[in-house]
Amino acid sequence: MAGHTLKGKVVVIGGASRNLGGLVAREIAPDGAKVVVHYNSDSSRDKAEETAAAVRGAGGEAVTHQGDLTRVAEVEKLFDTAVREFGKVDCMVNTAGMVLKKPMTETTEEEFDRMFAVNTKAAYFMMREAAKRLEDGGKIITIVTSLLAAYTGLYSVYAGSKAPVEHFTRALSKELFGRRISVNNIAPGPMDTPFFYPAETDDSIAYHKSSAMNGELTKIEDIAPYVKFLLTDGWWLNGQTVFINGGYTTR
Ligand SMILES: NC(=O)c1ccc[n+]([C@@H]2O[C@H](COP(=O)([O-])OP(=O)(O)OC[C@H]3O[C@@H](n4cnc5c(N)ncnc54)[C@H](OP(=O)(O)O)[C@@H]3O)[C@@H](O)[C@H]2O)c1
Repeated sequence: MAGHTLKGKVVVIGGASRNLGGLVAREIAPDGAKVVVHYNSDSSRDKAEETAAAVRGAGGEAVTHQGDLTRVAEVEKLFDTAVREFGKVDCMVNTAGMVLKKPMTETTEEEFDRMFAVNTKAAYFMMREAAKRLEDGGKIITIVTSLLAAYTGLYSVYAGSKAPVEHFTRALSKELFGRRISVNNIAPGPMDTPFFYPAETDDSIAYHKSSAMNGELTKIEDIAPYVKFLLTDGWWLNGQTVFINGGYTTR
């Protein structure tokens, strides 16, 4: 399995300033990964720099890069940065996402377009650019949601805009057979990050907790090891969506 270590591997992480993406960056640093810590909002800059410093402190290398990944030119610039700074790209992990919880009857055109821009379009072009730029033997991972296996209302646009990524992943994984690049999605349960809470109420949070083992939300610490596994020894998994959620939903 020597070919599947992260030593010297260049990993582009979309949405890596904090929360899940930030932890993935920190988790792979001790293995000697070279990480492009992407962030989107100006307000994420300090956190992105902190994450990059943590990667360097743990034995990896890191640069930060800002970009709105709903614009294809910005996606291309992110990979340009990886090649300019580190000479190549081996892996791409995309955690960029946006949530909306409301009835379909109240969803506006603007909300629909924004959600599909972040959750679908950015995901697609991050995968496309990774497919063009990655070294053979690389890995592509996109974070989707366990709601893809749920029968529920109110998340029509959120789950609906993550759902196409499953098909992107199936198609791309097959197209890349000859290059030994595995392409997968990780579908976390409701995660205990600031991303989750604004869309929910006390009652719905209690319901989400009661729907998984131990009455707990998923933690980023439960997810990041699986990302690292898929980047290394888990390389044979391909074309799949893996639900990691304490039993919150199954398929
Ligand atoms: N928390 C949950 O309950 C939960 C459950 C299942 C799946 N997920 C998924 O897990 C992923 C990570 O979520 P998280 O909880 O770690 O929260 P998070 O840190 O808020 O992750 C969302 C990321 O998306 C980035 N982003 C938003 N708009 C973007 C754009 N236009 N271009 C590029 N990046 C953009 C954000 O960057 P900035 O902050 O810099 O704007 C942020 O890094 C998301 O894809 C989410 O859908 C979350």
